[in-house]
Amino acid sequence: MATQTTAASLSAPLTLANGAVLPNRIAKAAMSEQLGDLRSGAPTGALETLYRHWSAGGLGLTITGNVMIDARSIGEPRNVIVEDDRHLDGLARWAAAARTGGTQAIVQLNHPGRQTPTGLSARVVAPSAIPVAIKGAFPTPRALTHAEILELIERFATTARLVCAAGFDGVQIHGAHGYLISQFLSPKANVRTDDWGGDPERRRRFLLEVAAAIRAEIGPEKILALKLNSADFQRGGFSEEESLAVIAELEAAGIHLLEISGGTYEAPAMAGTLAESTIAREAYFLEFAEQVRAVSSVPLMVTGGFRSGAAMQAALTAGAVDVIGLARPLALEPDLSRRLLAAPDHTRSQFALHTIGIRALDAAADLMWTQHQIHRLSDGKAPDPAYGPWRATLEALLGTGVNTFRRRRG
Ligand SMILES: Cc1cc2nc3c(=O)[nH]c(=O)nc-3n(C[C@H](O)[C@H](O)[C@H](O)COP(=O)(O)O)c2cc1C
Repeated sequence: MATQTTAASLSAPLTLANGAVLPNRIAKAAMSEQLGDLRSGAPTGALETLYRHWSAGGLGLTITGNVMIDARSIGEPRNVIVEDDRHLDGLARWAAAARTGGTQAIVQLNHPGRQTPTGLSARVVAPSAIPVAIKGAFPTPRALTHAEILELIERFATTARLVCAAGFDGVQIHGAHGYLISQFLSPKANVRTDDWGGDPERRRRFLLEVAAAIRAEIGPEKILALKLNSADFQRGGFSEEESLAVIAELEAAGIHLLEISGGTYEAPAMAGTLAESTIAREAYFLEFAEQVRAVSSVPLMVTGGFRSGAAMQAALTAGAVDVIGLARPLALEPDLSRRLLAAPDHTRSQFALHTIGIRALDAAADLMWTQHQIHRLSDGKAPDPAYGPWRATLEALLGTGVNTFRRRRG
């Protein structure tokens, strides 16, 4: 039975079903670091510096940026890739750094599916041969065969076993934001009519089989978490109704923690750059969280938009969530969690969206800005609030930014 608490404070510990104790309710949500070794995908010392910094800030849980389960299909340059035991030493050092100060540290596992940028990977596969509807950015994928689907399930399990063996406290399945698992769940991206598509039950089979295979590999004592979209925010996409139906099955699937987010590259709701109407409250997926409570007792983390200690505290004391997920604010203020724990009512993140006023590029500009700060932290430097979103965008487009520099350096 999953452990669920209600009406907690930010500094209250949380015990998960496997017995793991999060020392407090603040979690760093996954942010892709792009700090793996360019050639091998091994974790680098820069990741150790970054995570030591973050965990010293007093997090209850830290979730790594997405780690690829298959070197043939990656989401971004310099992703960490774990397919076999080659990187165990580097993973062990990364885990030790991330677990500083009693923080529980888990690795996010991902396969990008059709969200593989043009030119990055030779193999672009997805449930169906339907491209992302952003011209030129992503090639048309090839539909996976049944045998290839089974192989990918095995790969998720293998990567989970390896990172746990290296010392991480568990894994999070990335089932959100339009990547492979999210593609299987979406009636828009998955038009298969075999065992893996055709109705909601068959569309969620891939996710549930991935969860079962991972649980069998890592055993009952490690954390198995899932990041899931409340919805894809697109007509004909994964709906709230289907999301709730998936969530109702998670406890039986051995999931210990559910993180709610939303959106895809086509409709980036997670970035908070959509119309105001989708950002009703500070945390934009909070209303959905209330519906989740009705169908599941798996401990719940909500990520997206939390900025003030008062709003976080209110969500916890109302029993709406068990864990507060923070991403971008921690790139600007790595010590934010410590300040929130000390004085929740008087602490508010200074993070504001870094957009350029061109809707199609706003989410990317904000992302590049944030990643610039992450790379500074990983170099042992302080964040640079004066860095502008235009500069982030231009440097990304021209290939002169800190990301490109690091890419070349390898
Ligand atoms: C630079 C950057 C990288 C991200 N990478 C990931 C990722 O690898 N996996 C993931 O699930 N979400 C990723 N996200 C989304 C965040 O986890 C989070 O859902 C989103 O930023 C909203 O939370 P926030 O308002 O606290 O930033 C990323 C966000 C940013 C800004």
